Amino acid sequence: MSKNSFYITTPIYYVNDKPHIGHAYTTILADVLARYHRLIGQPTFFLTGADEHGQKVQKAAEYSSIRPQDHVDQTVVRFEELWKKLQITNDDFIRTTQVRHTNVVQEILQDLYNRGDIYQAEYDGWYCVSDERFFTEKDLVDQDCPECGRPVERIKEKNYFFKMSQHQDWLNQYIQDHPFFIQPDFRRNETLGFLRKKLNDLCISRPKTRLSWGIELPFDKDYVTYVWFDALVNYISAIGYSKNNDRFTSWWPANYHLIGKDILTTHTVYWPTMLKAMGLPLPKTIFAHGLWLSGDTKMSKSLGNVVNPMDMIDRYGVDALRYFLVAEMTLGQDARFMEENFVRRYNADLANDLGNLLSRILTMITRYCNGLIPACDPDVLNDEPSSDLWDTIQLAVDKMEQSITDMRLDQGVAQVMAAIRAINRYLEIKQPWHLVKHEDKTPLNITLYTAAEGLHVCATLLYPVIPEKMSVVRNALGLSDQEPDMAHLRTWGQLKTGAAIKQIKALFPRIEIHRKKTETEKPSTSLKKENTMKTEIGEEKVEGLISYEDVSKVTLRTAKILEATKVENADKLVQLQVMMGEERRQLVAGIALYYDLEELIGKTVIVVANLKPAKIRGVESQGMILAASKGESMRLITVDGELSSGAIVK
Ligand code: MSP
Repeated sequence: MSKNSFYITTPIYYVNDKPHIGHAYTTILADVLARYHRLIGQPTFFLTGADEHGQKVQKAAEYSSIRPQDHVDQTVVRFEELWKKLQITNDDFIRTTQVRHTNVVQEILQDLYNRGDIYQAEYDGWYCVSDERFFTEKDLVDQDCPECGRPVERIKEKNYFFKMSQHQDWLNQYIQDHPFFIQPDFRRNETLGFLRKKLNDLCISRPKTRLSWGIELPFDKDYVTYVWFDALVNYISAIGYSKNNDRFTSWWPANYHLIGKDILTTHTVYWPTMLKAMGLPLPKTIFAHGLWLSGDTKMSKSLGNVVNPMDMIDRYGVDALRYFLVAEMTLGQDARFMEENFVRRYNADLANDLGNLLSRILTMITRYCNGLIPACDPDVLNDEPSSDLWDTIQLAVDKMEQSITDMRLDQGVAQVMAAIRAINRYLEIKQPWHLVKHEDKTPLNITLYTAAEGLHVCATLLYPVIPEKMSVVRNALGLSDQEPDMAHLRTWGQLKTGAAIKQIKALFPRIEIHRKKTETEKPSTSLKKENTMKTEIGEEKVEGLISYEDVSKVTLRTAKILEATKVENADKLVQLQVMMGEERRQLVAGIALYYDLEELIGKTVIVVANLKPAKIRGVESQGMILAASKGESMRLITVDGELSSGAIVK
């Protein structure tokens, strides 16, 4: 069966860990992609689950003096609850202790054993319990685990091996021939580097005398299978492998296995060779994202710096967390989780740009149009500011689509935010509060309809990322409760003239940061008022200094200067055309005495991006460029080295 379907997976999580922001991230990412693909009408299957066997679970259960099954039954709930709270729309949740899974693992083992792909031999090597991985002497780094740096156990015993080494040349070639198989590119190179060393056979068993909590080898009752050989199979057991062929082939091969970079080798070397031995096609893309760091440090239980997603949801709401994680991480690279950054982004993007836009539109339609979406002729697109705005919104549609294909969701979201800022600017230019005074209400109606329609498109684009709040926006704009229609984002006029809008309370109440006074005070749970939430971060406030909140009101972005001309009749002023990401802006700056015009072209400068546009000597300036001056001299603040424009200055 040829497959137009979309199958996406997350890793299955070790249940004895408490879910943290890293787990939440992969699952949210998969959810955004799954929602998006469903909305464009593609049959979609989204799988997540729990990895419940292995030495860590056995040890934890022994420690609590309970049966391992009872232990995992208790702990798996933490993940199930988190996914519910995060509004994750997984189609299935597989647990490796379920019979539907254990059966398939045993069938595969038996089949490979019968075909001579599994054999018994003496194992002499090392084992890392934390990663549940076998290592040879030369893999170790200072005698510790090369992955996590923890001490390893010496193991010398009879075991079963899977003939992984025989697939080395084939895998090498496959990876080279299929550039999208491992993404991003630098992770593909990492795997190719790994394959330059001789590939060993893979030890796939543990004697029961050492580890009993696992799936029994069907051909030797004294052994259980190695936890990775068990876990990886979840991707096919969940969709009916060897049980329901039609179902299986309708989803397999998976479009994406999303993983963290720390489990690259198991997914890009063990799993493909296992699939090859089973005679199955490989997943289309294994995408390894970076890790979330706590500040600059690795998150770890022992360092006590693990960010708990439940706390963040309780303080700031589900959509705020989903938005931050998606917008902040450049897929593939590590990202820093800092609550102050979180609040800054929330206030700038969600409370200011998006929340304020909705509230302005609703207020004006209520006041000026009796609360009904005004009429608007499609000819409006002949009106320049409106057609320019529509172009910017269409660019966001294109970019979002592209960012899904390129796995650069941060860029798609950034473009939608640029479109939202453009709608705010459009309202500043059109000034509906003046238009309402004219007898002819057509310009007023055009303006408000255009702004509302633009917001509707942006809300649809953001729906997979922040579904709860975007449903509120749709509802407020008089749209039905149904899921949005991605198919008509390029057709002007989806909002129904005459539909009643609904006033709502602040969509994203601003967060006021209050400095914590004493060490012993616990961070407050947010105090929700109508328009603000309070949170406590950091240390005591010092008189005479501005608060973090004051700083967080300013959005600074990098911009590249394209053109520079003199402003007529103003000796000191230069009119600049700049690109800020995908957005073109005009700025006026008092730098004519300090620079030749040609010298300015190509510089990447810093701009206050959320400054209300203003006319300076009759020329509109859409932001302010930063410069430093002392005595007679003035220099622009520029960026040290290559950085594309539109980057946020933090
Ligand atoms: N059980 C295995 C996966 C088996 S998949 C067939 C496992 N589980 S895990 O719970 O330890 O990790 C699950 C995922 O969470 C991994 O992709 C890992 O990279 C990811 N993360 C763990 N810490 C993380 C961060 N700090 N940041 C981002 N992701 C992180 O490995």
